[in-house]
Amino acid sequence: MNIRTETKEDYIQVYDVNFMAFGDREDEARLVERIRESQYFVPQLSIVAENDNEIVGHLLMSKAKVVEGNSKHEVVVLAPIAVKPDFQKQGIGKQLIFEGLKRCKESNYNLILLIGHPTYYPKFGFKPARTYGLELKQFQVPDEVFMVCELKKNELCSIKGELIYPEAFFE
Ligand SMILES: CC(C)(COP(=O)(O)OP(=O)(O)OC[C@H]1O[C@@H](n2cnc3c(N)ncnc32)[C@H](O)[C@@H]1OP(=O)(O)O)[C@@H](O)C(=O)NCCC(=O)NCCS
Repeated sequence: MNIRTETKEDYIQVYDVNFMAFGDREDEARLVERIRESQYFVPQLSIVAENDNEIVGHLLMSKAKVVEGNSKHEVVVLAPIAVKPDFQKQGIGKQLIFEGLKRCKESNYNLILLIGHPTYYPKFGFKPARTYGLELKQFQVPDEVFMVCELKKNELCSIKGELIYPEAFFE
């Protein structure tokens, strides 16, 4: 399994991976397209898993903001992650997330936020975000699915406020 940065040549296959993983719906595949076209896209945080020249998994992390009064902090949001149904539960999602977190750390993105399965992400260090003074109002979600991962010690002590997802998430 080759875990690497997505290239333009992968776009069609990445669309298919998201389409298939999310039960033959195109919402997430289109979300990926909109994020790629936005200023919040970070090319090295669009990561694919390739097996025998076939893209079987994809992870996208992109920039967002946490706002508190007049202060704005740049953070990263993880969405979406997708592994082709035939390749799920073989550790591919795990490899993509570990690679994504490593790259974030290297680029000094120290807080990763997401909305996701409360049983899947804690094993990667994600914790309920509201416990740490982070808020999400754009989506009405239960506390346990709004999660944060702190990649630098004490980062959660200094960054609090409302997570604002960019427009690409709403079109
Ligand atoms: C979620 C998804 C990306 C996981 O990818 P994957 O390659 O199947 O996951 P992995 O094999 O790396 O699993 C890693 C661990 O999570 C567990 N796991 C996998 N899918 C899970 C799920 N949906 N809920 C809870 N735990 C899950 C695995 O058992 C494994 O546990 P272990 O490390 O203790 O053995 C994949 O199932 C998928 O594409 N699902 C459809 C799209 C989706 O729901 N995306 C996430 C939106 S939040």
